[in-house]
Amino acid sequence: MIDQETVNRIIDAANIVEVVSDFVSLKKSGNNYFGCCPFHNEKTASFSVSPAKNIFYCFGCHKGGNAVNFIMEHEQMAYVEALKYLAQKYHIEVKEKEFTPEEQERHDDRESMMVLNEFAKNTFIRNMTETDEGRAIGYKYFKERGFNEETIKTYELGYSLSERKAFTDLALKSGYQQKYLVSTGLSILKEEDGYIFDRFSNRVMFPIHNLTGKVIGFGGRVLDARTKGVNVKYMNSPQSEIYDKSRSLYGIYQAKATIVKNDKCFLVEGYTDVLSMHQSGITNVVASNGTALTTEQIRLIRKFTSNITVLYDGDSAGIKAALRGIDMILAEEMNVKVLLLPDGEDPDSFARNHSSSELEDFIDKNETDFILFKTKLLLNDAGNDPVKLSGLVNAIVDSISVVPDSIKRAFYVKECAELMNIDEKLIHREINKRLRKRREQWYDDEKKEAEQAVKTPIVKTFNPQQETVKRFREYEEELLSLLIKHGNEVLFILAKGDEPSVDVSVAQYIIKELTDNNIEFSVPICRKVLEMYTEAVSKAEKPDVTKFTLCADAEVSQFAVGLLMPKNEVSKKLWDKRNRYIPPEESRMKEVIDRALIGYKLELMQQTLEEIQKRLNELQKEPDSDLKISELMNEYVAYMNYYKHLNKYLGRTLTNKR
Ligand code: CTP
Ligand code: MN
Repeated sequence: MIDQETVNRIIDAANIVEVVSDFVSLKKSGNNYFGCCPFHNEKTASFSVSPAKNIFYCFGCHKGGNAVNFIMEHEQMAYVEALKYLAQKYHIEVKEKEFTPEEQERHDDRESMMVLNEFAKNTFIRNMTETDEGRAIGYKYFKERGFNEETIKTYELGYSLSERKAFTDLALKSGYQQKYLVSTGLSILKEEDGYIFDRFSNRVMFPIHNLTGKVIGFGGRVLDARTKGVNVKYMNSPQSEIYDKSRSLYGIYQAKATIVKNDKCFLVEGYTDVLSMHQSGITNVVASNGTALTTEQIRLIRKFTSNITVLYDGDSAGIKAALRGIDMILAEEMNVKVLLLPDGEDPDSFARNHSSSELEDFIDKNETDFILFKTKLLLNDAGNDPVKLSGLVNAIVDSISVVPDSIKRAFYVKECAELMNIDEKLIHREINKRLRKRREQWYDDEKKEAEQAVKTPIVKTFNPQQETVKRFREYEEELLSLLIKHGNEVLFILAKGDEPSVDVSVAQYIIKELTDNNIEFSVPICRKVLEMYTEAVSKAEKPDVTKFTLCADAEVSQFAVGLLMPKNEVSKKLWDKRNRYIPPEESRMKEVIDRALIGYKLELMQQTLEEIQKRLNELQKEPDSDLKISELMNEYVAYMNYYKHLNKYLGRTLTNKR
């Protein structure tokens, strides 16, 4: 927590041109500066910075905001982190809110450990560049492995001297406390006699950074001569207050900007794979450091992209590894591809032995969608063995059924059915079995997650105008037709802990979602019918189809009949329009409803975004509008994030909509 006064000071001090210039090369033109947008790929400079207004704005991708927004977006930092970054840049002292003594101590400990790690990192770098031993052994080692100056710098590689206590002694002499040497794991303390020595002596050092570039741990590799027969080739920092192996990814700090830019992340096994790929120009690459991937690591990647390509050795161990754990990635709404390297190659050797363009070419040609990859692989393996074949169907169904998006699932069913030469219906039936089992659990989780992400901002209501009415009609009709046709059906059963379970009907769900989001229908007849429906429900009535089709109000009855006519199946129209195939799933009612609701919200958002853009364009022409512009920019960014979130939720991509 940073106090408001300090926040204001930071924002006042931050000069947008200076802040942006650290990342984008800008050219002055008139009163403004222009450059190539760092947030989307472009060749013409549509990214503008206005020193007068102290904001940036991209005319291509419509991202915009002040210096804090820029750092948040570009460095993928949280608000407070971004403020601290700027505070440091402008030498502003940050007063943080008071901690309790315990919090303070924990915080101090963490800080002290980070400071010590920073010292260690710098020492290891200095060893390698300034000592004879470091140059002759450490630096030579990296050079021989083909790593260039830039790679060594980018990853802050270093060397730990062979003398048993070299680092420990230096750190103690420089005033660092022994307890932090132990808690960071840089030194090992023998309890019996108090002897303390270096964990990493005589190793080349790979610092492990967190998202903001702070060193949280190290990996140290023994030199080649000693790898024979040694099973601890790499020594890693132990688990600590600041380093949790299962929550960090090697290279994430160096990769995050390109991950966002390319909307894709490569996942490899280890340190040297990351280094070699990076050096070959593939900079959106991270490693799980040899361990099985964890959910936390996947979520770390998901902050930046939902597209992940896993690179594996082409040997059978590599293939087995590729199959393991990927269902977990699929369940996290990630699109997973697999890239198998030729037998005997790992990403490190492959990247080293091929030119950048060969590497890119190889990736383009050989990246395979994971589920299809798995199907083909198992199919090959099973041959004509009926037992193996039925196991195969199960394994594939397992993978497909964890994919959260029904449209994607349908796609996989179709593809895999074809590959395996099996009836689609059979696969659907198996998937539905698994889905049904997970259904209630799902509802709870999905809901929680959506609620968390969608906390702010609330969708606004607006004035229905002619044009508006048109764009909302299809959604309003869709929702009403769901209400009239299926309103009384039980949508799901809400069961929490030991409480008795509650049936939630389609009508209850839709009406709650609409009210929670302040959505008012804009088409007059739709509004009328919805009001009728809501009123009936509030009187504990269960309105059925005839309430509307036989309504005395001719307008209502005509409308209701229209909704029910098969040729007017609104939902069908909706799906066809988006060229989507809806699977014959029994459990898709909630998804159909959610899609209609989210589609509606997206239209609302889009309208709001357009309005803000219009207002922005007007404001640009007005004098003294700086403050308003930057406020509006912030609003715009917030809405945009919300929009993106909804879009992701719907499984559509932003680009084909805007
Ligand atoms: N690893 C580890 N500890 C070990 C062995 C491996 O942390 N004892 C992790 C490291 O991140 C390593 C990765 O697992 O980079 C892959 O292991 P391996 O293939 O054995 O190492 P390489 O990365 O190929 O290392 P090198 O090329 O230097 O031999
Ligand atoms: Mn290797």
